[in-house]
Amino acid sequence: GLELVAYDSHITFSQHSSERGTAFFCTLSTPTPFKIYKLCRKAFILKHSSTSGRSSTQTFEARLLHIESRPGRKWKNNGPDLEFFMRSSDVLLISTHNAVPWFPKQIKDLDRCNVLITKFDPDLDHGHPGYNDSEYKKRRAAIVELAFRYKHGDPLPTVEYTAEETSTWQQVYQQLRSVYPSTACRQFLDSLQQLEEECGYGKERIPQLRDVSAFLKEKTGFQLRPAAGLLSARDFLASLAFRVFQCTQYIRHPSSPMHSPEPDCCHELLGHIPMLANKEFAQFSQEIGLASLGASDEDIEKLSTLYWFTVEFGLCKQNGAVKAYGAGLLSSYGELVYALSNEPEYKPFDPEEAAVQPYQDQTYQPVYFVSESFEDAKMKLRRYSANIQRPFAVRYDPFTCSIEVLDQPARIQSALSQMREDLKTLHGALEKLGSS
Ligand SMILES: [Fe+2]
Repeated sequence: GLELVAYDSHITFSQHSSERGTAFFCTLSTPTPFKIYKLCRKAFILKHSSTSGRSSTQTFEARLLHIESRPGRKWKNNGPDLEFFMRSSDVLLISTHNAVPWFPKQIKDLDRCNVLITKFDPDLDHGHPGYNDSEYKKRRAAIVELAFRYKHGDPLPTVEYTAEETSTWQQVYQQLRSVYPSTACRQFLDSLQQLEEECGYGKERIPQLRDVSAFLKEKTGFQLRPAAGLLSARDFLASLAFRVFQCTQYIRHPSSPMHSPEPDCCHELLGHIPMLANKEFAQFSQEIGLASLGASDEDIEKLSTLYWFTVEFGLCKQNGAVKAYGAGLLSSYGELVYALSNEPEYKPFDPEEAAVQPYQDQTYQPVYFVSESFEDAKMKLRRYSANIQRPFAVRYDPFTCSIEVLDQPARIQSALSQMREDLKTLHGALEKLGSS
């Protein structure tokens, strides 16, 4: 079932295979033997739709064994066309060029970025502490339903947490808060203090996504949207490109306050939110998101591993000591203490290496990557993403909350002229400083 599409618009092909070999039929609107000869030496280009539904172009090469012509069965341009019968040697596949996977271009497209990975759900994961607790699962499902119904632009849903849920939060908060001063990085501690002062963070109550999102928006432009559970890496990373963080709202099982196999509100609110309130880190997160747009499945796998060893389990140097900035660490007492003990192996952060490092999603990590600083991590990441194979570059337009695909000179020109205006403003500011 291969359909041949010629590189030359004047030629169309069909392909037939039999035990004698593969034959290509071609019809020429302006028949010239020269074109056929040229064609024989060139690779054939075949287009076919694969079973995954993504279109791809494959380039094949074949040696022509036989060619003959006859009057065509169809009439075109008031005259008969010539049909050429060709027999070739085996067709060899030279390359496959997959079409760019769909990605969100506007912030409202994130309504479509909700593919869930359900292996750690309490319904499916035997190791989940709530696996046999039907009451817990019912409650979790009710909160998850709010995320399923959410559409971009809706007010963020609020949850009336029960006394039991608040008590779980309280235990987590107290336990972690007591070790943060000696384990968490400076940026985390600064933001947490602001969250406590300005956003109602504390052990008494679980913060609402609506309040936290408003707080983040003011600090770094990040905003939240409710997530129904662990998302696919492609969808989760894509939302970061828009400075949107997809956030679960249910809480872990009360029997296990220090650990949850899946993301829950303790993980998001304590692990992620303080870091997303830091400008440098927010930029770093968005860069990973932008690098993921339209990337191949293989590159998404690498980027999500990179995300794992930085945003989730990253360590960084500060004043000669190693501190945690990863949300997976800062929301799990056991692993936080373990990661900063002498036991695990440390490696200097190198995106190439981190992207292919095997990781653990069931127990503690065997190895952690230590960054010199966020700025250093961001520069290295930028260099890494520049090598991701994509036929275009992307840029986020904060005015329209959309992704600009820079694949045409005119678009690049307009982005450049905008940048020139910004530079003029900065230059003017410097001059004013100099003359005062
Ligand atoms: Fe996370």
